[in-house]
Amino acid sequence: MEKAAITSLDIQPLIKNRWSPRSFSSKPVSADKIERIFEAARWAPSSFNEQPWRFIVGIKGDSTWEKLYDCLVAFNQIWTEPAPVLVLAIGKKTSAKGDKNSVYQYDVGQSMAYITLQAEAEGLRSHQMGGFSKGKARELFSIPEDYDPMVMSAIGYQDAPEKLKPDFTKMEKAPRERKPLEELVFSERHGHSHPMTRGR
Ligand SMILES: Cc1cc2nc3c(=O)[nH]c(=O)nc-3n(C[C@H](O)[C@H](O)[C@H](O)COP(=O)(O)O)c2cc1C
Repeated sequence: MEKAAITSLDIQPLIKNRWSPRSFSSKPVSADKIERIFEAARWAPSSFNEQPWRFIVGIKGDSTWEKLYDCLVAFNQIWTEPAPVLVLAIGKKTSAKGDKNSVYQYDVGQSMAYITLQAEAEGLRSHQMGGFSKGKARELFSIPEDYDPMVMSAIGYQDAPEKLKPDFTKMEKAPRERKPLEELVFSERHGHSHPMTRGR
C-alpha cells in the first residue's frame, strides 16, 4: 500500500513516498542494505561535527533484536513482532571537549531522518518509536550515563495492512495528515504566515 503525501507542490519522491507503516514482512533485509542505511546516517550534518549518534542494531533471530524488542511498550511490540530489523538510536550528551552538547538531540534526529530516507531508497520502510523503556535499554545494553537512549525504529519490507490486527489495519489505512504550510512558515513575526505559503 502506498500512502504518498498529498502535496501542493512537487517534492523529492523519496520524501513524498516515505511513510511509517506498521505492517512489516518478516522477509530478511540483506546486510549490504542495512550497512548502507547506517552509512547514510554517518554522513548527516552535526554541530561541530560531533556526530553524537550511536546505533544498536538487532537483526531478527539475534539476541540484540530480542533485547530491543523487550524494551518496547506493549503497543509497539504488537506490530513490530515480524520486523526484521530493530534499531535503538543513542545520543552522546557531551562534546569531545566534555562540555554539555545542547544540540545532540537535534543532531541524532537528523541522522534518523537520513536513515528513513536511505531505507526508502533501498525499497524498505521504517517506523520510528518513542514508546520504549529508556531505563530498560540502558540496563540491557550497558549504556553509559553520558549517552541518552533516544528513539527506536523498525525497518523492513512493508506488508499488506490486512496482516495486522483489526484496530491496526484501520490506523494503517487512515489518511496521513499535516498542518498547512501557512501555519508553519512565517515572515515579519512569529505566527505571521509568509505570503508565499498563503492557501497552502
Ligand atoms: C520520535 C518519534 C516517535 C514515534 N513514536 C511512535 C511510537 O511509539 N509508536 C508508533 O506506532 N508510532 C510512533 N511514531 C510514528 C509517528 O506517529 C508518525 O511518524 C507520524 O504519525 C507521521 O506519520 P508518517 O511517518 O507516516 O508520515 C513516532 C515517530 C517519531 C518521529
